[in-house]
Amino acid sequence: MPDIWKLKDKSFNKFIVNNDIQEKVQELAVRINTDLDGKTPLFIVVLNGAFIFASDLLKKVTIDCEIAFVKLSSYKGTDSTGVVQQIIGLDRDVKGRTIVIIEDIVDTGLTLVRFREILSEMEPANVMIATCLLKPDAFGDKFPIDYHCFSIPNEFVVGYGLDYDGLGRNSSDIYKIIAQ
Ligand code: IMP
Repeated sequence: MPDIWKLKDKSFNKFIVNNDIQEKVQELAVRINTDLDGKTPLFIVVLNGAFIFASDLLKKVTIDCEIAFVKLSSYKGTDSTGVVQQIIGLDRDVKGRTIVIIEDIVDTGLTLVRFREILSEMEPANVMIATCLLKPDAFGDKFPIDYHCFSIPNEFVVGYGLDYDGLGRNSSDIYKIIAQ
């Protein structure tokens, strides 16, 4: 991909290259392999954005584990609140399990607040978060983020699974928006 990438009406600068991402993902996998050994965690991958991060990370996770893929639905249309209403596609039993939610990015964290609420009704033993990117200025300190690869400024990014209006997911590098 080029150093400057134009997607629709916006331009983006190359921000984090894939080599650096792979290094951080490896470090994170080592920590997970140590921390969760013997717990047979259930990783819950939040689609669509987390698909590349989850693929890279889980190939490096060597402990026994299970993997589920979910989508989060929110009301659309005139009533839209942007709040998650439902978890779609969860096909494993959560009760009593160590859960690791795999996310592409934690921005405001409001998606995860609701997701964690819905999951906690299913009585897991423990819910942890692993995200590739974290925007600390937007997130604040709502709850602990157990694992993250990069803290980034409060600016819009694409690539490595993240999209701008459907485009940009297919880049192995991460790009940051150029202010206009
Ligand atoms: P939240 O603000 O943490 O609830 O973020 C919800 C979702 O918005 C994330 O899972 C991403 O899919 C999307 N999102 C947030 N920030 C960005 C960004 O900078 N680029 C692309 N998608 C984003």
